[in-house]
Amino acid sequence: MEYKELADKALEAKKFSLPTYSNFHVGAALLADDNKIYTGGNIETSSYSLTICAERTAIFKAISEGERKFKAIAIASDLDGFCSPCGACRQVISDLCGEIDIVLVNKNKETKIYKTSEMLPLAFSDDDLK
Ligand code: THU
Repeated sequence: MEYKELADKALEAKKFSLPTYSNFHVGAALLADDNKIYTGGNIETSSYSLTICAERTAIFKAISEGERKFKAIAIASDLDGFCSPCGACRQVISDLCGEIDIVLVNKNKETKIYKTSEMLPLAFSDDDLK
């Protein structure tokens, strides 16, 4: 699957990001099982560590609206290269989205697709808490 629409939505979502301090704009678009798309941008505050990445914004929006199953997440930045999700977001994707396609999108709309388990092998999970 190419995820063209999802890639476009991730690029568009950068518009509402708020990277006040880094000026590094990231957009994410999460495709739920019911084919609804939830978007998010990164949001920074003056207390820098309270930043939230675009991926987590989109995922928490979707979860808080009742979604529980997902197919893919696209992540876009203004880089020529591909913006890869941070470690914290990989854990959240693994826990809350499961084995989905992670679609990295560069500024020229080219994509690279990975699976969650490729991005976070040997993941800690709720199984470990049983
Ligand atoms: N950021 C994201 O939103 N997603 C990523 O995949 C990597 C990093 C944000 C966090 C911060 O606002 C800015 O990019 C610079 O690290």
